[in-house]
Amino acid sequence: MGSTLTVAVTGAAGQIGYAILPRLVSGEVFGQQTRVHLRLLEVAQALPALEGVVMELQDCAFPLLESIDATDDAKVAFDGVNWALLIGSKPRGRGMERSDLIRDNGPIFVGQGKALSRAADDVQVLVVGNPANTNCFIAMRHAECDGIPPARFAAMTRLDQNRAQAQLARKAGVPVHKVTRMTIWGNHSATQYPDGENACINGLPAPQTVGDLDWLRGPFIETVQQRGAAVIAARGLSSAASAAGAALDHVISMETPTVSDDWFSAAVATDGSYGIPAGLVYSLPLRSHGKGQWEIVQDLPISDFAAGKLAATTAELESERQLIADLLPL
Ligand code: NAD
Ligand code: LMR
Repeated sequence: MGSTLTVAVTGAAGQIGYAILPRLVSGEVFGQQTRVHLRLLEVAQALPALEGVVMELQDCAFPLLESIDATDDAKVAFDGVNWALLIGSKPRGRGMERSDLIRDNGPIFVGQGKALSRAADDVQVLVVGNPANTNCFIAMRHAECDGIPPARFAAMTRLDQNRAQAQLARKAGVPVHKVTRMTIWGNHSATQYPDGENACINGLPAPQTVGDLDWLRGPFIETVQQRGAAVIAARGLSSAASAAGAALDHVISMETPTVSDDWFSAAVATDGSYGIPAGLVYSLPLRSHGKGQWEIVQDLPISDFAAGKLAATTAELESERQLIADLLPL
C-alpha cells in the first residue's frame, strides 16, 4: 500500500527550489511506494512566481505527488511535516564570503526554528541556506526550546563531500563511486577541511592511490573550499543543480542505513568527539541507521596537519556564533 510523507521546502520559488522539487517527488528519494504532500514556503512577494512552480509540478503529473500547498506562513508550512528542507535565504554574490550573509539570513532561522514546533514528532531538518552551519545552529536552538532534539538538525555539507569525491576520482582516473569514506570537517565555508587522508579510492587509502600528498594537502583542499565561489564567478549565480542533488543525497543517506564500512558528511551538533567543542554545528563523518538515526564515526586518525585545519574551522564557527548571539533564545 505504501506510506505518505509531508515535506516542507522553503525558498521554493528560488533556483535550488526549482531544481529540487521535481526530483523530490519523483520517487528517487523516498521510494516508489511513498506518496508526498509538499508544503512550499516563500516570502509574500515571491508567491506569484511560486504559483508558476506549482503549475509546473502539477503538469509533470507525478504519480506520487499527493498534494501541494504554497504559503508564506511558516506555521502552516511546517504543520505535521516529516522533513523540512530550509533553503530559502539570500545567496552570496561575487567577492562575498558566505558569512557576509549572516545578519541578513540569520533572523529567518529564528522564526522558522520556532515554527518547527508544529512539525511531526519524527521531523528531520536540513539547512541549506547560507551560512548553513550557523543558520542551522540558530534554528536548532530555538526548536530545542520546544523539545525537538538537536540530533534532528543538520546543515548541508554533502555538496562539499560530492565535490571532494569528484576531484579525487578525476585525479585517480576512477569512477566517482570508487571514492568512499569522504569526510568534510567543520564549516561549509572556505575553512572547511576535506579530508583526503582518511578517504579511500578503490578500497585503498587515497594517499596511497594518489601518491601525491602535496596535492592532497594543497590544491585538492583549496579547490573544494573555493568551488562555490568558482561556480559563482563562472555562472554569475550560486550552485543550484548540484546543491539540489546534494540535498537529495543527504535525505537519502539519513533515510537509509549506511552500507558496509562507508560514511557520509553532514554538519550536526557536536558532542566533544575529536576534541571539537560540544554544541557547535560542525561537519563530521556519520553513519546512518536509517529513519534519521545516525552516529558519528569515531577514532579516525587525525594528523597534525589535519588537527590544524580542524582547529581553524572550529575558530571560525565560534566567531560566527558570537555574531548571532543576540538571535539565540535566552
Ligand atoms: P535564490 O535567491 O534563487 O532563492 C532563494 C529563495 O528563498 C527566493 O525565492 C526567496 O524569495 C526565498 N526566501 C527568502 N527568504 C525567505 C524566507 N524567510 N522564507 C522562505 N523563503 C525565503 O537562492 P538559491 O540559489 O536557491 O540559494 C538559496 C540558499 O542556499 C542561499 O543562501 C545559498 O547561498 C544557499 N546554498 C547553500 C549550499 C550549501 O551547500 N549549503 C549550496 C548552494 C546554495
Ligand atoms: C556553494 O557551496 O555552492 C554554496 O554554498 C553557494 C555559495 O555561496 O558558494
